[in-house]
Amino acid sequence: MSGTFAAERARLLALADEALRRHAPRAADVSPRLDAAMRHALDAGGKRLRPLLCLAAAEAVRPGAAAEAGRAAAALECVHTYSLIHDDLPCMDDAATRRGKPTVHVAFDQATAVLAGDGLLAHAFALTADHEPETARDLTALLAAAAGPSRLVGGQMEDTIGLAGGASRARLDVIQRGKTAAMIAASLLMGARVAGKRDDGALAAAGDALGRAFQVADDLLDLEGDAALLGKPAGTDAAKGKLTLHGLEGAEAARAELRALTEAYVRGLAEAGLRPDFLAELGRSLVDRRS
Ligand code: IPE
Ligand code: IPE
Ligand code: MG
Ligand code: MG
Ligand code: MG
Repeated sequence: MSGTFAAERARLLALADEALRRHAPRAADVSPRLDAAMRHALDAGGKRLRPLLCLAAAEAVRPGAAAEAGRAAAALECVHTYSLIHDDLPCMDDAATRRGKPTVHVAFDQATAVLAGDGLLAHAFALTADHEPETARDLTALLAAAAGPSRLVGGQMEDTIGLAGGASRARLDVIQRGKTAAMIAASLLMGARVAGKRDDGALAAAGDALGRAFQVADDLLDLEGDAALLGKPAGTDAAKGKLTLHGLEGAEAARAELRALTEAYVRGLAEAGLRPDFLAELGRSLVDRRS
């Protein structure tokens, strides 16, 4: 990791954390329990990849624009965190740990976990709506499309059906694009939009490649990773009948595709006209991640 990259990453992470502190939902006046459950999930940390991508994309379009992207970055993390809370429920992946802590339904109960997810999801759209009108419309539309039934929720539906729905490359692509890549692409698109750039498709394609790479790596980490480092269970996908690239084509082929998708992402950044330095290194740093 180069010194410049590490310093910029630390700077943007601090901005992301500050944005989350400032823009996280507050339900303490209505329901202290709901407030505590949302905070349990949000404050646990995680990599903050989506806020980082959003802030970095804003910077890559117009240096200094990250300072304007705090609400968008926080909105993305709220939707992502909601999706994790629901993903971990007993009726879905049934996971007891997340971000190194007990999952929300374990620390609280299932009803509270469902409601904490609902609260974070709705709050995200209050944040995107809180911009000047044209930006608000575009950010809200981008986030709604990524989080909606054609993308995140639809991907989660097919992921839940898993191998029982058929083990094909086409189904795997639908699942990875939907449940993961859409939110990763939206992170880049929303950051760029805050900085004034509407995408012509090139940045969406780059984000799609990065998002698929990210899920291939997540699936490999379930196979080979260390639950203590991951902060969540490992070795559970096979038992749950999940459709994965390494399951279809083997771990070596999955690793090769992870590298190829990451390089496609890096080429895509240049095609989209974004200054690639930081965003490219951030993408490449995810190839060998251990958490
Ligand atoms: C986990 O996302 C869910 C996937 C889409 C693979 P992350 O690996 O980004 O989780 P956090 O935010 O770091 O906890
Ligand atoms: C999750 O995929 C995708 C989401 C949208 C939450 P996984 O089910 O593989 O994510 P982890 O491994 O639980 O983080
Ligand atoms: Mg899942
Ligand atoms: Mg899961
Ligand atoms: Mg996983």
